[in-house]
Parts: sequence; C-alpha cells; structure tokens
Amino acid sequence: SATEKGGWDSYMDKEIHEEPLAVSDTLLGRFSVDGDLNLDEVRIDEDVFRSIDKIVVIACGSASYAGLVAKYAIEHWVRIPVEIELAHEFRYRDPILTPRTLVVAISQSGETMDTLMALRHAREQGSRVLAICNTQGSTIPRESDAVLYTHAGPEIAVASTKAFVAQIVAAYLLGLYLAQVKGTMYRDEIRQIVDNLKAMPEKIQWVLDNQADVIAQTADRMAKAHSFLFLGRHVGYPVAMEGALKLKEIAYTFSEGFAAGELKHGPIALVDEGEPVVVIVPSPRGRDVLHNKVISSIEEVKARGAFTIAVAEVGDPDVEHYADVIFWRPECSTLLSPLTDVVPLQLFAMDMAKLKHYDIDKPRNLAKSVTVE
Ligand code: G6P
Repeated sequence: SATEKGGWDSYMDKEIHEEPLAVSDTLLGRFSVDGDLNLDEVRIDEDVFRSIDKIVVIACGSASYAGLVAKYAIEHWVRIPVEIELAHEFRYRDPILTPRTLVVAISQSGETMDTLMALRHAREQGSRVLAICNTQGSTIPRESDAVLYTHAGPEIAVASTKAFVAQIVAAYLLGLYLAQVKGTMYRDEIRQIVDNLKAMPEKIQWVLDNQADVIAQTADRMAKAHSFLFLGRHVGYPVAMEGALKLKEIAYTFSEGFAAGELKHGPIALVDEGEPVVVIVPSPRGRDVLHNKVISSIEEVKARGAFTIAVAEVGDPDVEHYADVIFWRPECSTLLSPLTDVVPLQLFAMDMAKLKHYDIDKPRNLAKSVTVE
C-alpha cells in the first residue's frame, strides 16, 4: 500500500531515497573512540586478518558489481589481489585457495543458492568465509565464519539499490580495516578516507534533490530507445554494468555495460545515429589520464552520431562540450564516486519503467532472491 511505501510510488523509489541513510547506518558503530576502525564484531582475529594475502569475492548480480567496485579500492589500499567470481562459476571451478585467502560472499538476501553453494565449496577447501549481508540471521551469514552486516534496512523491490551502495561501503570498511591492521596505509590517510565516506550520504542526497528532473526529462526523451550502451573506466566500469543491469531488469530494455577501453575492440560497431550511450566520467580534478580517456570515448561515440548521456562531476569543464545530457554529481574522490554515480542510473531505469507502466517492484521473470540453482 501507499502507506507502507511511505508516500513513494514504489518500493524502489523509496529505497533509492533511503540510500543516504543506508550509507550512514552501514558506517555507524564501526569505529573505536580514538577513530580507528573497529571490526571486532566479525570475530576474526587481527592476526588472521594480517595474514590474508588474497581476497576472492563470490556473488551474483548487483552484489558482484559491488565486489568489482571494491576490488579497485582494496587492491589500491591493501596491495593484495582481489578476484571477483560469479558464485555459479566459482562453484564448478577448481579455485586456488589457501589458508591465507579470505573468501568474501556478498549477498543482500543471504539466501541466494548459487552464492551459498559457492561458499560451501570454499569452506570445504579450508577457506575462511566472511559474509557481507543485509539480512540478519539468513543462511549465508549463518554458514560463514564471520559476517559484516550492511545496515540498509529491508529491501523489498526486486532490483537492488540501497543494498548495493551499502555493500560497497561494507567492502570498503573491510579494505580499510585490512590496510589498518596490515599497516599498508598511514593512519591519517585512512582517517581522511573515512571522513570522505562519512560525507557521502550528503552527496547522494544532493543528487536526489537536484538531478531528479533532468533524469525524468531524459527518460521521456529516450522512451522509444530500444537499446543502451553504458561505458565506464576503473570504478566507473562496474557502475556502467550496474546501470545497464537496472535498465534490463525493470525497463526490459536491452543494455550492456562496457569498459570504455573496449569500445574500439567491438562495441563501437554498435554505435549508430541516435543510439543512446551513457558514460560515467571520472573526476576532472588533476585532469588525470582516466578523465581524458573517458572524454575521448564520448567524442568517439559522438562522432558516430550517438546520443550521449554523461554522469559527471559538477564543474567538469570538458564534459559539456561533448555530452548531450549531463547528470551531475558533487565532487568526490574517484574511489568513492560509485556511491553517487549509480544513483542517477537507478533513477533513470525507474523512470523508464514508469513511462512504460511496468511493475517497478516486481519485474517479470525475476525473483528478489533466487533460492534455486
Ligand atoms: C537476484 C536479484 C538481484 C540480486 C541477485 C543477488 O537476481 O534479482 O537484484 O542482485 O539476486 O542477490 P543477493 O540477495 O544474493 O544479493
């Protein structure tokens, strides 16, 4: 009913608007009085954490993209390899795990059968499994050695939104904690990132408050498009895949996310007059290579007639020359930008589904949690 949805049209709408809270609640209570990260709740010995030399993430769907976002951050902060494996693939492989490997199972529901079977497979081989989960007492955390809960609150809409951002935050906390115990970063650096993380709810709120109109208008303009390409680099790559997944799931629109660098290796052949291409643009500050390369990708698809929609940082001086439409986000570091950049893509998919009068919360053929293999 409308009351349960708190006045929102759909649970998805409500849950997207709960993202600032999902992020701040997931950060809550994870620090000691002196400001250091404290993950005592996971009950894995600090010495064990210190010995970890590889992380293998197992997950499905959006949770796997949250894991891929975390890979960029954790490898940068902790200098250990992080692999992401779709749970259903992991299970039938002969994965290389040692007692020093930490397997991280990411699941909103904690009931996804593929992820559960993969975690059993890992444990049978003597690996330690840490669950990142949104559902207290569900099967995946119960069968894991430890659990780090996301505190996004119950997620009802089939398409994951607030749980996704909370999963990124939890995985980042894990990464920063590993950096702290392994000493791969200075205390001050960790503090700085934690402070930046604490500022993210406000930045997400800014997107919700200021970009909803342009997003809805763009959905109107794009209502007849039959396919979308999403491009991103670095952390923008999993964000592109997540944006494409949302459109598939609820707007039943063919869409695919690519690493922007792959464009010339195939996907550019798809670009034709009027074809919509959504591009996640990294921060222009420092004008680093990443930013310039993504701007060139926009130029390349634009030159072939694409209709380009950019997600970019406020004040980006280059993006305006090339993009047809821009969804703005506030300034933030590249590693934290997925938390804001995914928001307009979620809203866009929702608006597209609304225009088509689809059931936003219960898309055809999908289940909230897939408890069969
Ligand atoms: C289903 C849902 C997706 C979700 C995936 C993993 O396919 O439709 O939205 O990302 O399962 O779910 P989990 O509960 O394990 O995060």
